[in-house]
Amino acid sequence: MPGSFERYRAFGHRTVKGWVEPQTLDILRSLSEAQDIEGVDGAVAEIGVHHGKLFIGLQLLNHLGLPAVAVDVFDDQDLNVDQSGRGDLQRFELNVRRWGDWSSVVVRQDDSTHLTGRDLRELAEGPVRLFSVDGGHTEETVTADMRTAEQSIAPGGIVVADDVFNAEWPGVSVGTLRYLDGGGALVPFAIGFNKTYFTDEAHTSTYREVIRRVYGHGWRMAHKTTTFHQNDVEVLWPTPVTPRHVLRRSTLARKAYHAVTSGRPTR
Ligand SMILES: C[S@@+](CC[C@H](N)C(=O)[O-])C[C@H]1O[C@@H](n2cnc3c(N)ncnc32)[C@H](O)[C@@H]1O
Repeated sequence: MPGSFERYRAFGHRTVKGWVEPQTLDILRSLSEAQDIEGVDGAVAEIGVHHGKLFIGLQLLNHLGLPAVAVDVFDDQDLNVDQSGRGDLQRFELNVRRWGDWSSVVVRQDDSTHLTGRDLRELAEGPVRLFSVDGGHTEETVTADMRTAEQSIAPGGIVVADDVFNAEWPGVSVGTLRYLDGGGALVPFAIGFNKTYFTDEAHTSTYREVIRRVYGHGWRMAHKTTTFHQNDVEVLWPTPVTPRHVLRRSTLARKAYHAVTSGRPTR
């Protein structure tokens, strides 16, 4: 029986080892809801699943009956040339069975650079709606994986790429820029919590608007609009939640403060 996204977001994700900030799950849920409104359909897929931490979140957002494609070298760790994570098929299956739905998972144990967009579409039985690129972290692998993702997504599909701005993995930054400079059709529209989000040109403004509306005025996330590779992007990062921060953000607390300091009573 399929699990629940809410249950996984609330506590399940904490039990799965991997590299996903919980805010990423929130952002993906908001974007997935926007895709539903836009009528974007398709499967979900991830290159580089490790123990399934993000994959399970993607799968729980998947439309009923559609495949969830998992690509990883798993036991063939000699193909993991830069030692980015360490996929474990048994652990992955256990975690998916516990929090998600194993019956819709399509596993491809392979070096992702051997795969094309067409292979991905075959595995997914059609185009992909949400695609996570988090496999090998070398320049060459990242460029190849971004191309594969581009070739396999549906119109309005979203590619979420890991570590693009992580100083530990400069190969990912260079690989992403090479992809963009080499005629990549995907356009970045948001950055936050170690993920960078891409879609096709026609959908960037819709998804940027969603990010601004849902996260632009919150307490726990700071937001600004800036540019990345000549594209406007929404950037999100965590804000510390201290008592002073809460007071500063509260209209009531601000009114009370001004009333006290000006000697007037609050209305
Ligand atoms: C950083 S981990 C992925 C983390 C995961 N997305 C999560 O949610 O925690 C990177 C994964 O990519 C896999 N990997 C490394 N090189 C790969 C390649 N060339 N092809 C496919 N998978 C690869 C590793 O085995 C590892 O499981």
